Amino acid sequence: MRTLVIIKPDGVRRGLIGECIRRFENYDIKIIGLKMIKVDRESAEKLYAVHKGKPFYDDLINYITSSPVVVSVLEIDLEPENATKLIRKIIGATNPVDAERGSIRGDYGFSITQNIVHASDSEESAAYEIPIFFDEREFVEY
Ligand code: CMP
Repeated sequence: MRTLVIIKPDGVRRGLIGECIRRFENYDIKIIGLKMIKVDRESAEKLYAVHKGKPFYDDLINYITSSPVVVSVLEIDLEPENATKLIRKIIGATNPVDAERGSIRGDYGFSITQNIVHASDSEESAAYEIPIFFDEREFVEY
């Protein structure tokens, strides 16, 4: 399964790009796309369309567009349910106070908005989110 992982503005600003990537590389996970970008408003609104209307929506959009992020596509050699479980285990629960120690958010997260990483939460959301940031031709095979 392929999934989108974003190292968010706080992850980049705090120098956690390498740490995050390291944690994915510790598993049998292949990075097939990787780039640093500043997310524009249109892409942010697409990414977070499911949250439109929620009280935290504006903060979410302002935050993800505030400074550069690293977007990546990871290929995990597992069926979707287990791949999603593995990614969730590596990044930890959305709210850092609920995230296990040893997960990225559990070890480094400050707040639910500034929670360092985003990852697609299902095969369907990955299929929706990946094309927001990547063209199929950008992926490498190895
Ligand atoms: P992310 O994995 O990027 O997906 C949606 C984001 O919305 C989530 O991380 C959090 O940063 C944010 N979020 C989810 N629930 C809340 C909430 N109750 N209050 C504030 N932010 C939230």
